[in-house]
Amino acid sequence: MRLSLRDRYIRAMRVSLFKTTAGMCRIDAVAAISRKLLPLHCRKSMQIILCDNYDEISACAANIVKATVKAKPNAILGLATGSTPEGMYRCLIQDYENGDLDFSAVETFNLDEYYPLSAENEQSYHYYMNEKLFRYINVPADKIHILNGEASDPDAECKAYGDAISAAGGIDLQILGIGENGHIGFNEPDEYLRADVHKTGLTESTVNANARFFATRDEVPRYALTVGIGDILRAKKILLLASGEKKAAAVRALLDDHITTQNPASLLKVHSDVLLICDRAAYGE
Ligand code: PGA
Repeated sequence: MRLSLRDRYIRAMRVSLFKTTAGMCRIDAVAAISRKLLPLHCRKSMQIILCDNYDEISACAANIVKATVKAKPNAILGLATGSTPEGMYRCLIQDYENGDLDFSAVETFNLDEYYPLSAENEQSYHYYMNEKLFRYINVPADKIHILNGEASDPDAECKAYGDAISAAGGIDLQILGIGENGHIGFNEPDEYLRADVHKTGLTESTVNANARFFATRDEVPRYALTVGIGDILRAKKILLLASGEKKAAAVRALLDDHITTQNPASLLKVHSDVLLICDRAAYGE
């Protein structure tokens, strides 16, 4: 029997999601997600769901988080900030409010935090996570981990954070956005990348991109604490979200055969379970 690209893709998606959810994800739900979406690209190690718009990206990503938590109620989630996952968080809040999702045994580790910046600052990722997600759902406070942007000893803070991820058993599902320059977390393009949690400087490209969240560009912190590329690649499954044409160059670099520290996201090609969910603009159409 000859399968169309679309059917092959749907079949691949089922396998992928089954892997993620330890066999507990319902096939009809997976097929329903897949039917809505046009498959254009199917790689062995990176699968892609191409969405028509941002709302579809958000719903699709939330469904995967939901399936993960339903299959493993004490799942360890790696969470991201930025504009891209906001819609996904709204969908997850909705699921929680509908009684369809319980986060009471979930543990979360955020990717990064500006440095120096207090958790009370409205531009901090502590503030973001509380406003966009945590205040509406039931992840226990002691299971929420975000790097301390005011740590007096940032190296000790980073070491303790990496140890806490390991002690929790590692990340089951890592959510990622992607920077216009290909950064993931605050792992910026460079000659070398760091494997472990570390303090890093931000590139001009990232300062410019993030200036929209601050009153002035000068207010954007020039440093951050971030999990490293090794921490990200140790996650069991990675969900990468990209929306809008500004991400097209970074996404394009994911789809060829090259790996370069000048596009940190390209290192995701060595991971065996990455799902990219993007819209047509980010895909470069
Ligand atoms: P954005 O940021 O979602 O605000 O575009 C993504 C990132 O910089 O990782």
